[in-house]
Parts: sequence; C-alpha cells; structure tokens
Amino acid sequence: MLPLLAACLILLSFVQATSGRSSVRAAWYAGWHATVGYPLSAISWDKYNTMYYSFAATTSDLSSLSLNASDASLLPQFVSDAHAHGVEAHIAIGGWGGSIYFSSSVATAENRTMFAKTIIDFVNKYDLDGVNFDWEYPNHQGIGCNTISSDDTANFLSLLQVLRQDSKGDSITISAAVSISPFVDSNGNPSTDVSGFAKVLDYVAIMDYDIWGSWSSTVGPNAPLNDTFATSSDQQGSAVSAVNAWSKAGMPVDQIVLGVAAYGHSFSVNPSDAFVSGTKTLATYPAFDKSKQPLGDAWDNTGSMDACDVYEEPGGTFRFWGLIDGGFLTKKGTTAPGIYYRYDLCSQTPYVYNETSEVMVSYDNAESFTAKGTYIYDRGLRGYAMWEAGGDYNNILIDAINSVVY
Ligand SMILES: *[C@@H]1O[C@H](CO)[C@@H](O)[C@H](O)[C@H]1NC(C)=O
Ligand SMILES: *[C@@H]1O[C@H](CO)[C@@H](O)[C@H](O)[C@H]1NC(C)=O
Ligand SMILES: *[C@@H]1O[C@H](CO)[C@@H](O)[C@H](O)[C@H]1NC(C)=O
Ligand SMILES: *[C@@H]1O[C@H](CO)[C@@H](O)[C@H](O)[C@H]1NC(C)=O
Repeated sequence: MLPLLAACLILLSFVQATSGRSSVRAAWYAGWHATVGYPLSAISWDKYNTMYYSFAATTSDLSSLSLNASDASLLPQFVSDAHAHGVEAHIAIGGWGGSIYFSSSVATAENRTMFAKTIIDFVNKYDLDGVNFDWEYPNHQGIGCNTISSDDTANFLSLLQVLRQDSKGDSITISAAVSISPFVDSNGNPSTDVSGFAKVLDYVAIMDYDIWGSWSSTVGPNAPLNDTFATSSDQQGSAVSAVNAWSKAGMPVDQIVLGVAAYGHSFSVNPSDAFVSGTKTLATYPAFDKSKQPLGDAWDNTGSMDACDVYEEPGGTFRFWGLIDGGFLTKKGTTAPGIYYRYDLCSQTPYVYNETSEVMVSYDNAESFTAKGTYIYDRGLRGYAMWEAGGDYNNILIDAINSVVY
C-alpha cells in the first residue's frame, strides 16, 4: 500500500511540475469567421485552457475599442462558453488591421491613463480573464498607416505598468503577441533588455509564422522551428532563434509561449524549379512566380481594401482544413494521392506540391506540431498559442501538440 501511495504521489508531483512548466494551451478565435464556417459552437473548448477573442481594434477615440471587424454580439457568448468549459477568455487587442492607434494611445501619460481605463472598463464589461496585446508593431510599421513613434516600446511598457497599478489590471492575465525579434528600441534595433516587460507581462507569445511568404525571394517555411543549419541567406528566423533572442534580452523562457500556425502559404512553382533535376524529389527553397499568386482556400482574401483603405491582393493562404478541401491532404491530414510531399528537417515543416496546378504550399501538420510541442516541452517554454482555432481540422493539429504539451 505505502509504496503504491508513494508512487502515486511522485506521479502526481511530476504531473504538477510539468503542467506548471507548460501551462498555456491557447488559440485565437477570429470573430469574422463565425459566419463562414467557424461559429462559437465549433470550438473544441476541452483542448485549450485559454482563448483570445480577436480582435478589438484601437481607435482614434481613447475611450473606445472597436469590435466592428469581429462581431461584437458574439463576445458575451464567447466568454460564457469559455467559462462553462473552465477556459480563460481573453480579448486580443490590435492585430494586423487594428493596431493603427496604438502608438498615439500610449504616447503621453494622459493618453495612457485614459487608454488603460478603457481597457479595464472593457475587461469588466465583458467579464474577461485577460488581455492579449497584439500591437503589430511598436516602432515598426505594420499594415502601412499605423501611428508610430520612436518611443513606442518605452511607452508600451509604461502603459502596462499603469494597467498593473490598477487592482483589476493586476489580477488578470496580460500577454503580448510579439514578433520573432524583441520589441524595437528607439533606434530601430531589437531591444537588448526587455526585463521590464517580463515584470508586467505574464508572457509573450512569439508569432513564429509568416516568416516566408509571397514577399520572400524563394519558397520557404511559413513557421520554421529551426533555421540554424540552413544556409545564412535562408536564416530568416525560427522558433529556436526567436526564443534565444527574447531570452537573451531578458524574457525568462517560462514566460515565452510559442505561436504556432494552423495555416500555410502558397506559391506558384514551375515543375522545373519544384523538383530536384531529373527526379521527383521536391527541391529546397525553389524559385516561384510572383506574378501568379495562387488563390488560397475559401477563407482567402480574394482581393479587398485593407484597414488603411489600400487594395490588398489575394493572400494565397490555406488553412489546414483548406488543404484538405483543396485536395492536397486527405481527411486524416496525410498527403493525398498524386500530391508530392517533402518534410524539411531543418525547419521541421512540410511542403505539398500539385504538379498540375503548379501550386506549392508550406504549412504545418501533425508531425510539425509534434516537433514544436517537443521543443516547447524540452526548452521549458510556457506553452503554445495557435493562429487560429478555426484553422484546424478534426483537432488533428491540436491533438498532436497536446500530446506533448500539457
Ligand atoms: C463601427 O461601426 C459603426 C457603425 O457602422 C460606426 O459608426 C463606427 O464609426 C465604427 N467604428 C470604427 C472604429 O470603425
Ligand atoms: C493622444 O490621444 C489622442 C486621441 O487619440 C490623439 O489625438 C493624440 O494625438 C494623442 N497624443 C499623442 C501625443 O499622440
Ligand atoms: C537546431 O539546429 C541545431 C543545428 O544547427 C541543433 O544543434 C539544434 O538541436 C536544433 N534545435 C532544434 C530544437 O531542433
Ligand atoms: C491538382 O490540380 C489540378 C488542376 O487544378 C486538379 O484538377 C487536381 O485535382 C489536383 N490534384 C489533386 C490531387 O488534388
């Protein structure tokens, strides 16, 4: 009896220790996808412990955040559904299209006080458990028309400090979705010391995706795990290098969550470039035809005006389910017959290629999610955050990463 009890206690403390180490299992819920196939009822709540409602946009009015692009009417139900499943409900503020007024909102002490009050009021109004700042990006232009200042990073830190001085602000989970380099300092370089942020943020979620895409010079991995043994020109960033950079700048690894992608980017690649000459083996980093951006899945932007009122070309994005819809993958998430496949061992991400349509996609699958989960666990990171919950198919990706991160 006693040895069994001891064994149970050891097992119990092991489970507690590991769950303490990798406690964030999160995803973003995109409100604008509720009416196109991913309603709240489709969320597999039991797979997660945190969900970020995306996005509340910054506005020119310091007293309001806008849910215009993400269906405000859903947020109360989102919060009650999350709570019914024991999941923390957070609001993600900003995003690619919603970061226009971040800089001006934090520019002065007066603005920070008002903006902090707006955020706290919003948290109280919707009974939220946390705020995920998704400022893309402090002192680094994102969509093209963001307000921007060389003091953005310092002012952002001041805003977070104001929030933490509030008793409500001190009690919620505050995180930030960040790029693969530490916040840009006033000289435009990655900050060498982000330890101040570590004091006021529960964690950062590194957006290790969109590393390669239509803007790149060749096809490359959307969400590389590693790039240290790629040639130097192919080292555009990865989870490994990003975590090292943030950690070196003073963000403890157990306050780093890895952002993972339930989608991929497509490229138009001629068969003569796609294959290693004389074989049917897919080539690494092939050239692609920029003038022929393939259309992505049913959620792809087919060309529209962005938040800056500038025309945006089709993105060519395939969600994981979109690759199944598009004939690249089977319903089990494996390569469909007639499709060429390559798993890149450096980036630990897969590629698929349809020779007839000449479309190549760099994406993530169960194998790459397992590799990322293993890295999260081994490196002692805080967990993962997936863009976006609605990208998965039958929980294939989330089950793969949950099998190693819990
Ligand atoms: C949100 O939509 C309302 C109604 O269409 C409009 O009056 C308001 O200006 C919009 N707010 C933002 C920030 O776009
Ligand atoms: C403070 O916020 C207001 C309202 O958004 C804005 O008009 C003003 O420019 C901001 N101050 C600074 C210095 O950016
Ligand atoms: C990244 O690649 C280097 C080799 O360049 C290797 O030593 C390291 O273990 C790799 N890390 C991961 C997490 O794959
Ligand atoms: C490859 O693309 C062609 C042309 O679009 C399409 O007819 C075919 O079904 C695709 N192959 C697979 C396996 O989906």
